[in-house]
Amino acid sequence: MEMRDDTLARSDAMPDAAGRGDIAPVPAPARKVFVKTYGCQMNVYDSERMEDALTQGGYLKTGIIEEADLILLNTCHIREKAAEKVYSEIGRIRKLKQEKAARGETLTLGVTGCVAQAEGEEIFRRAPAVDLIAGPQTYHDIAAMVARAEGGEKVIETEFAIEEKFASLPAPTRQQTIARGVAGFLTVQEGCDKFCTFCVVPYTRGAEVSRSAGQILDEARRMADAGVREITLLGQNVNAWHGGEAGAALRLGDLLHRLADLDGIERLRYTTSHPIDMDQGLIDAHGAIDKLMPYLHLPIQAGSDRVLKAMNRHHTKALYLDVIERMRRARPDMAISGDFITGFPGESEAEFEETLDVVRAVRYASAFSFKYSPRPGTPGAELADQVPEAVKAERLARLQALLGEQQLAFNTACIGKTIDILIEKKGRHAGQLIGRSPWLQSVVTTGEVSEIGQTIAVNVTGAGPVSLMAQRV
Ligand code: 5AD
Ligand code: SF4
Repeated sequence: MEMRDDTLARSDAMPDAAGRGDIAPVPAPARKVFVKTYGCQMNVYDSERMEDALTQGGYLKTGIIEEADLILLNTCHIREKAAEKVYSEIGRIRKLKQEKAARGETLTLGVTGCVAQAEGEEIFRRAPAVDLIAGPQTYHDIAAMVARAEGGEKVIETEFAIEEKFASLPAPTRQQTIARGVAGFLTVQEGCDKFCTFCVVPYTRGAEVSRSAGQILDEARRMADAGVREITLLGQNVNAWHGGEAGAALRLGDLLHRLADLDGIERLRYTTSHPIDMDQGLIDAHGAIDKLMPYLHLPIQAGSDRVLKAMNRHHTKALYLDVIERMRRARPDMAISGDFITGFPGESEAEFEETLDVVRAVRYASAFSFKYSPRPGTPGAELADQVPEAVKAERLARLQALLGEQQLAFNTACIGKTIDILIEKKGRHAGQLIGRSPWLQSVVTTGEVSEIGQTIAVNVTGAGPVSLMAQRV
């Protein structure tokens, strides 16, 4: 692998290895990489794949930024705040870089992910401390790009080569997968063709591309073999996933059936879905597959049909509510989660209240909600009737109060029930374990560390806004 060559070249160039034939040169310590992830779970998955590629090429992973010789910021461009966070982090790293330089050491800084894709060269201009800019579809080349940047070159790569990315990123080793725990992510689809008028994703991640069923099943088998018991399938439009085999078209429901047949995999989830891709096969899969967890993240964004049209969502409020109803018919204990935006351009008070009506009708178990953030290059940012910040904020506060009540009500309704939880890790105190409920709640209970990875039955005794307490049965 090219980066290994580079690491060796570096140690050969160390001052004490200067041409003495009698003493073997002392190898330089391996360089350490620190990856910081912003934004969505797709970025978490991508960061893991980049770490795999770099550590297999000779780097050591570190969780301490001050120790790092290479820092990668895997960034998010979805809202302005997310993008701005990156620049303040770069400011801090610039100081680390100067301190290291004063000690005669080097620190290489890379910006990857959606800010890299969206801003490109502009990042070098705004932040000269950055050495490498790599968009989300270029990570199959990450080792080679890092090697060039370590050699002093300013490297920028923002091509879309998504099939290549999946085909040539190295699989994690068994040890790497084991170290990541019993619940893992698996990207099955990337990109988006929907072009919601507020969203940068179609521009930063590119067109919708599905990975092949064979590639996904292989990765799932490797994960199961390394002790992973719960897999969350990831995609910006995960339920747009499609595959083909001997002329037969496969959809996400079919893929879930195949994954459920794998030994070792006990739980399946998927996120994020678009309402128009919720086909009946996927809904029926929830009634047929016990391993498929009763939880659906289904963003609606806004409740008014006029606003949904202006957002180019391709669906109405009625279609969304119908999907939820059919889901609950297939699986009565289905928990629903969603995403919401307040203050999209032109949204009136009455239209915002329709969002609250949808929330009351659905009764969400959890949700994410945001003020509209105009993103450069998206049609929404060009609209004339932008809503004032104070109005967006006031609507967000009302929406979040209602969603918060619903989330607490959902959690409180679990008290007294016996539920199965997958034990994921030890808790903060001795003898404490943290597990995950079928509805994605974090559950605090007691037990032995050796039980991590097991599914156990517990009785729920208490509930807070974000977690449950439970006793062993
Ligand atoms: N402003 C506010 N929220 C946004 N989202 C996406 N783009 C924007 C934007 N420009 C939200 C949507 C999406 C989630 C991932 O982020 O709710 O579902
Ligand atoms: Fe963005 Fe809409 Fe695509 Fe989701 S469906 S990634 S919100 S454009």
